[in-house]
Amino acid sequence: MSRSQWGSRLGFILAAAGSAIGLGAIWKFPYVAATNGGGAFLLIYLLICLSVGLALMLGEMALGRAAGSNAVGTFRQLGGKPWPIVGLVGVLVCFLIYSFYSVVGGWTIAYIGKSLTGSILTSDAKVLGDTFNAFITDPLQPLVFHGLFAGLTLAVVLGGVQKGIENLSKFLMPALFVLMLVLIVRGLTLPGAVDGLLYFLTPDLSKVTGTMLVDAMGLAFFSLSLGMGIMITYGSYVGRDTPLLGSSLWVIALTVLTCFLAGLMVLPAVFAFGFDPSAGPGLTFITMPAVFAQMAGGQLFAVLFFCLLLVAALTSSVSLLEVVVSAVMEELKMPRRKAAWLVTLAVFLLGIPASLSLGIWREYTLFGKGFFDLLDYLTSNLLMPLGEVLLALFVGWKVWPSVAAELSRHGKTPAWLGVMRGFCRYLAPVLILGILVHNL
Ligand code: PHE
Repeated sequence: MSRSQWGSRLGFILAAAGSAIGLGAIWKFPYVAATNGGGAFLLIYLLICLSVGLALMLGEMALGRAAGSNAVGTFRQLGGKPWPIVGLVGVLVCFLIYSFYSVVGGWTIAYIGKSLTGSILTSDAKVLGDTFNAFITDPLQPLVFHGLFAGLTLAVVLGGVQKGIENLSKFLMPALFVLMLVLIVRGLTLPGAVDGLLYFLTPDLSKVTGTMLVDAMGLAFFSLSLGMGIMITYGSYVGRDTPLLGSSLWVIALTVLTCFLAGLMVLPAVFAFGFDPSAGPGLTFITMPAVFAQMAGGQLFAVLFFCLLLVAALTSSVSLLEVVVSAVMEELKMPRRKAAWLVTLAVFLLGIPASLSLGIWREYTLFGKGFFDLLDYLTSNLLMPLGEVLLALFVGWKVWPSVAAELSRHGKTPAWLGVMRGFCRYLAPVLILGILVHNL
């Protein structure tokens, strides 16, 4: 059976950007930036994305295309034993992240419904906090929406690389940008919005600390979907004549732009109505509805806002599922249909304790964390950095000649290659080990 390929370069870029742009850029970035010195955080985030982030993304895409295989097969083919373990860890991390990502994806669907009925359109943040808590701790409702979200993701992945993932991304990613622009214009034209704009853009250098650097790096790698085989898998579907540097620069530019736009969308509006911008994770589900409740036409904008979150989450979850499915298909010789159904079922089941751990199973904890938080902590703070270090070492030291050959396919060896090698060999491992040590 011949391997799937993207239909066009644009399709590839939008699918990879769709994976990168997700809850990380739209949900996490605004509140993390707001609590970490605004403009200073944005600048550091940008620098990390364009240096180490670019090197790792290029490395992953080149590996995938050179091997033409899934995440596990790529490491086996190019590195031999014991490297496939790194691919396997990546696949496992995708699986674990997907299980709680899908729970949160379900919340966005539920909130589209709550916006349509108007039940969350109150300016009382206390009531909204209670509503949100009552919803996520409910034993049944979030599970229904988790199933719905996983079902949507399954439908896309069943469609395959071109007809499913690429077509969805080509349609949804432009829609995402239009939605954001509409919401930004609405936010910026509110009286008092300028203060929020200044708060977001003025660099507060006193907030530049070790913890902030670790936060910025963690968010950069998470939001670029690096270190778990996603860009390897997407890279393995790229045609031989597609330039990888230009493509990855596009993906990074679109992701950074989205983070910036997400800040512009959320913070001025939050300021205009006098809410606390550093409300943390609750900013999206608790503060934003209160903001919409006070806006002219707020109900419409609330619906649009949660549709936007759903779109962002869906194109990311599709990439998480695709990595696992492609590994199962090729390593266990299973047809796409069967692999996709099996993995979805497993993810659905794992999501159940994750969701319940926020409510009725709250008492069951390990290391002081419920299951949901444990999954998040284990993947974001330990397994992802581990995967990234190993990836950087693999690219920089073990298989650099193959990667370099893949990246200089169009004529002579480009001058920037040496810089990329330096990033993979030294800078990335040192920085990421710093994150790991800090997290431990
Ligand atoms: N990049 C996605 C986001 O920002 C999340 C993600 C992480 C997706 C890792 C795939 C892999 O939400």
